[in-house]
Parts: sequence; C-alpha cells; structure tokens
Amino acid sequence: MPSPASPVPARPVASAPAAVARASAEAPAGAATRSTPRQADPSRARVFCIANQKGGVGKTTTTVNLAAGLALVGQRVLVVDLDPQGNATMGSGIDKRRLPHTVYDVLLENTTVAEAVQRSEKGGYDLLGANRELAGAEVELVEVERRNTRLKQALAAVAERYDFVLVDCPPSLSLLTLNGLCSAHGVVVPMQCEYFALEGLSDLVNTIKQVHANLNAELQIIGLLRVMFDPRITLQQQVSEQLKAHFGEKVFNTVIPRNVRLAEAPSYGQPGVVFDPSSRGAQAFIEFAREMVQRVQTLR
Ligand SMILES: Nc1ncnc2c1ncn2[C@@H]1O[C@H](COP(=O)(O)OP(=O)(O)OP(=O)(O)O)[C@@H](O)[C@H]1O
Ligand SMILES: [Mg+2]
Repeated sequence: MPSPASPVPARPVASAPAAVARASAEAPAGAATRSTPRQADPSRARVFCIANQKGGVGKTTTTVNLAAGLALVGQRVLVVDLDPQGNATMGSGIDKRRLPHTVYDVLLENTTVAEAVQRSEKGGYDLLGANRELAGAEVELVEVERRNTRLKQALAAVAERYDFVLVDCPPSLSLLTLNGLCSAHGVVVPMQCEYFALEGLSDLVNTIKQVHANLNAELQIIGLLRVMFDPRITLQQQVSEQLKAHFGEKVFNTVIPRNVRLAEAPSYGQPGVVFDPSSRGAQAFIEFAREMVQRVQTLR
C-alpha cells in the first residue's frame, strides 16, 4: 500500500483494513445494520441520531446543515441538541444562555417538547435546545424510572408535526446518547476518513447492536457519512475505498468536503447551508439532504 502524503498516521496505514474489517464484521451480524424494508407511518417523523463517540468529527455540523438542507427541500424538521456543549443550539442562531426550557427539562419531565421548542428562523427548523445544565441530567437520570426512554416518550407527542427529527449526540456513549439511540429509528455516523475513526467505529457499531438487541428493535445504521474529506490526502482516499468495500450501500454517496465556510458559519449563528449557500460545503449538504429523503423511502 502506498504511504499517505499526509498526515502521517500514528499507526501503520496497513492496520486500517483490519480496523474496517473489525467494525464491519461486527456490523452485519445484527439486524441493526440491515435496511430491511419495514412499515413506517409516513405521517410520523423519522428520528435519526447523529452519533459518533469520537469528539470533533462533525456531528453538530452534520446535524444543523442536514436540518437546514432538509428544510430547503420542503421537509419539516426538529433538531434535538442532546449535548451539554449546546453547539447545535448556538449554531442554529439560538442563545443557549437564554433558553426558557431545554432538553434537560424535557428529560426530567418538567415540560413537554411542544413547550420547549424554539424556532431557528435562519435554519428553517425547530430546535429543542441544550446548555450546560444538561450535564446534570447524566447524574439525575440514573435515579429515575424509564431513564433510557424519556426522550423517546417525549418525542412521541410531536411525531406528527415533523418529517425528520435529528438528534445531535454528545461525544460519548453515555446515558444521554443512550436516550438518543432508544428514541431513534436510525443512526447517521459522520466520520473522517482516518485510521482512528475506524477504530472508534467498531465500538459504536457494537453499542448500536446492543441497543438494537435489548432496548430498541427498530434501530439501524442509516449510513456512514464521509465528512471533512480532502481528496488530495491519499490516506483519506484509501480509507474511503475501504469503507465502501466493507460497508457497501451503508456508505452515503454524498461526501462532505473540508470547507472553511462550514467552519465559519457557527460564529454567525447559522448553518453553513444558509450562511453561504453557494459554497462547496453547503452544496454538499443540500445534496446529502436529497439523498437522505430518498434513502428513507427505501426504509419503509
Ligand atoms: N466539512 C467541514 N469543513 C471544515 N470544517 C468543518 C467541517 N465539518 C466540521 N468542521 C469543523 O470541525 C470542528 C468540529 O466539528 P463539529 O463541532 O461539527 O464536530 P462534533 O463531532 O459535533 O464535535 P463534538 O464531539 O465536540 O460534539 C468545528 O470547528 C467545525 O466547524
Ligand atoms: Mg457536537
């Protein structure tokens, strides 16, 4: 295998296929990753977690831009910020320090989703916001009954108002993420085409399998989304090819390029799709929204 131009991986590139194989060997073993046709009520929202326990891989960027892209193509969207960092909230133009109600109140059943949602005027979607208060929920939820399914129950009440609910998960496989996974029909996994991303994938696939087996039989991997992609980097091309070889149709056709406009947009409180619609990053997310709308048809 030719050596990558850059960056130099911390471990030999030759190990990458083994990591992909490990993750994909775990994946098909459970129905969690099969897109078996299922009956779904089209009047009820599809709930998708945007998850990857690795930090900084583009979960929030994917959530807000997919949401804005879906809104642009006529879909009714709710974004749930399930991360105490509140990045999806701020990136949607809503000040996390001034939220009357947050997802924390919803998880502790102090309020309903309908009461707590805010409108992201820029993004064209609704948002259930979060701030640092949510970190406390990790501890408080341990004590309560139905601790894994609180979000699922709360979202059921608004399922007919939306076509898509996108849950931006924190960078961990915590009780918060578990609430997201228990409430979802599927998981979208943004990943960078790097060696360590492959290592983490196998943990995530295992968790999804366990949730599928024990807590949420509906859960499946909707797809792996290659993000921050730079085709000039040989290693990224190699990892991308390996992903396609092992995961096949589970890899989305759309590839999100590394694009500075996507990184600039949050500081303006806007998804990149709205901030600079003609940028390469925005165009890719609009294309991804279209691909997502098509993909959900095949899930029915
Ligand atoms: N396609 C892209 N091109 C350029 N920069 C990007 C792209 N996607 C994400 N970024 C930037 O990378 C950083 C991490 O992205 P993001 O916050 O979406 O990741 P995350 O997985 O949600 O992080 P965390 O695990 O902390 O929640 C941010 O600064 C973001 O602006
Ligand atoms: Mg994030």
